[in-house]
Amino acid sequence: MSSQYSLFWFLHFTGIITWLGPTTAAWALVRRAVRSGDDRLLLWVRRAAQPLYRLEEIGLALLLLGGLGLLHASGLNPLTDHWLGIKLMLFAVVVLPMEIVHFRNLAKVNRALRAAGDTMTDDLRQKIGVEDRYIARVFWLSAAAIAAIILLAIFKPQLGA
Ligand code: HEM
Repeated sequence: MSSQYSLFWFLHFTGIITWLGPTTAAWALVRRAVRSGDDRLLLWVRRAAQPLYRLEEIGLALLLLGGLGLLHASGLNPLTDHWLGIKLMLFAVVVLPMEIVHFRNLAKVNRALRAAGDTMTDDLRQKIGVEDRYIARVFWLSAAAIAAIILLAIFKPQLGA
């Protein structure tokens, strides 16, 4: 294993953990607060979750950087190594669009959060609700796609390669 390959592998894995860990924690915290119906708790949790969302962005960037580096360093070809082709397709068609919508929702929540100050506003409640319902709708699809990506990468099945 070349040192370049090891570096990209390290970035890829650090990215996966930094992306999925804080995302799951933020999701669980916000979900509880939304379900509680307590506006003060919800406001507090949304603010407390900000660093977790920053980590999510950093994790995704590292994952991508490491993944692109691995593509280059491993010499694998998504057109002939079909497990990789399917993995990248799942990432591009399912995971990435979901993340983009999620980040756009978060940006709207953050703007409303800044405008709200210390009190819950209707605008903020509505934007948090939109994001909460979006996550609830895409949760299982994204979990299934990520699980498939991980299984494909670990077992590297020779799908017609
Ligand atoms: C949800 C996103 C992703 C997850 C969870 C993920 C996960 C993994 C895992 C678990 C491995 C296995 C490493 C091993 O067994 O040695 C791997 C390998 C790899 N990943 Fe990803 N990955 C993701 C996205 C990407 C993206 C976007 C790219 C490219 C831009 C990429 C490129 C690669 C390459 C080229 C390898 C193969 C390394 C090798 O076998 O030599 N991955 N990935």
